[in-house]
Amino acid sequence: MNFHLRTALTVLLVAATGPGLAQQVTDSVAPEAATEGTTAFGALSEAAAASLSAKDAGTPVEAQDWMVAAANPLAVEAGARVLREGGTAADAMVAVQAVLGLVEPQSSGLGGGAFLVWYDANSGEVTTLDGRETAPLEATPTLFQTEDGEPLGFFDAVVGGRSVGTPGTPALMQAAHDKWGQSDWAGLFAEAIELAEGGFTVSPRLAGMVAGDADRLGRFRATQEYFFPGGTAIAEGDTLTNAAYANTLRLIAAEGADVFYTGPIASDIVATVRTAAGNPGVLSRSDLALYEVKEREPVCVTYRAHDVCGMGPPSSGALTVGQILGMLESYDLAALGPDSAEAWRLIGDASRLAFADRGLYMADTDYVPMPTQGLVAPAYLAERAQLLQGDDALPEVSAGSPEWDHAMQLAPDESLELPSTSHISIVDSYGNALSMTTTIENGFGSRLFVRGFLLNNELTDFSFRTHADGRPIANRLEPGKRPRSSMAPTIVLRDGMPTLVFGSPGGSRIIGYVAKTIIAHVDWGMDVQQAVAMPHLVNRFGTYDVEEDTSATDLAPALTELGFEVGARALTSGLHAIAIGETLTGGADPRREGIALGE
Ligand code: GLY
Repeated sequence: MNFHLRTALTVLLVAATGPGLAQQVTDSVAPEAATEGTTAFGALSEAAAASLSAKDAGTPVEAQDWMVAAANPLAVEAGARVLREGGTAADAMVAVQAVLGLVEPQSSGLGGGAFLVWYDANSGEVTTLDGRETAPLEATPTLFQTEDGEPLGFFDAVVGGRSVGTPGTPALMQAAHDKWGQSDWAGLFAEAIELAEGGFTVSPRLAGMVAGDADRLGRFRATQEYFFPGGTAIAEGDTLTNAAYANTLRLIAAEGADVFYTGPIASDIVATVRTAAGNPGVLSRSDLALYEVKEREPVCVTYRAHDVCGMGPPSSGALTVGQILGMLESYDLAALGPDSAEAWRLIGDASRLAFADRGLYMADTDYVPMPTQGLVAPAYLAERAQLLQGDDALPEVSAGSPEWDHAMQLAPDESLELPSTSHISIVDSYGNALSMTTTIENGFGSRLFVRGFLLNNELTDFSFRTHADGRPIANRLEPGKRPRSSMAPTIVLRDGMPTLVFGSPGGSRIIGYVAKTIIAHVDWGMDVQQAVAMPHLVNRFGTYDVEEDTSATDLAPALTELGFEVGARALTSGLHAIAIGETLTGGADPRREGIALGE
């Protein structure tokens, strides 16, 4: 296929970035779970093993025709086989997601939800699909409050049936395949079924997370039996089978995703949620039967002659990333470079301003009015950008007043999102591009395990409070509503052609990871592997998180001097990116276990 030329400026800027953050991108991050060569994942193809080595060496993977990048080599290989045989990116996504649900069950799967951004090579159009979970129709706005009207503790809400929303991922897989697939649907599950029945190698990350969550996973018998067979936690290198998952996939393969929403799988999900010991939920058969994937308008903003396109409400992802970039547009980040505290002052305060708007306005627009266009209107962002003109960190940040034909008095949101989730990027040999972020919310979701997969806790992405100071909170829980997300699956275009396909897990830090990756690639000229590996500095609500044990901490004194509160911590993104230029180049986040693979 003919991919257009990437700008020569990129190469020049790589040379200009100099030492420091830019130089450390290949060796400075501390993976939460190390990717220790091919044995960590069982038998891998030579190409997959080479991709793992490339990631370790900090170099991008290169290909001519197609590419897939995701969080586990076994899942990537399943997608690669589909693409090699002429399948589309939508076909490959079904195969990747089916395997991810088995080998990375803590992050995404049939029991969760996802957002998908699609670039269509034939029409040149970008489409977004919303497969977000919905609140049960029986849910009340006070679902996450005590009898006194106070918010429940986070894990009191998460663990059990109360937090489970209607899963959207199976319907999204089906909808994407119906729209853009051309491979036989049933065949796309073959590899996942084979791995589930024959056994897969437990990865270091999965084993580590199981060991770290023993108390919560141990609360429910089915979950305990799967992750602690015979009473012992599954360990790295174990071969694990999941016959129940194979059977679930066989049903979906044979009958389509409808079987998940109306048949015995739906009955089992509902029974598991409603009888969850100590914390039952209210999901019903009607919620599943009524579930719909929604096609929505993409949100696109212009940044340095690129169009950055992603998922609009109920995700805050594209809007908040778009606000950050829109405010930074008038500042010369390229000249400042990645080691400049001034560059990070601008990025940090632009993020704080954007998060203030996010907390006040952003929610599911099927339920609440929202100034969607106003939030990314160039004039509004230019006005907000003027606030960045000082020399120090902003002493205070509050939401702005975007143009809006409603005059609602809202209160800021208080929802807490902890990092988990997974991201899939695919470019097929026809030139289509797919960017999908997929989740069951917290690691291991609600901890409820049914028919071989975990159920989400996505409802805890709603604000636990409904009102503050007598004013309603936009992201309050309402029956049927979709909780606000931070997921930001992104496709960047230039002159109408895709140049970068990527996204990340990480709760509300996703927004910072995604904005930073665009800046690293576009302003600082880093290749995709450098851009995803670069140490993180993320500011959401004021505290500047710098990635511990990396060169990002070198900036801490200067940022403190500027007036930021700075804290070093692990920042476990899972960026998977494909840059489209003369060739395809792929990058996989060294903080997770994924790879990019292409031909
Ligand atoms: N649950 C993570 C998100 O949707 O942002």
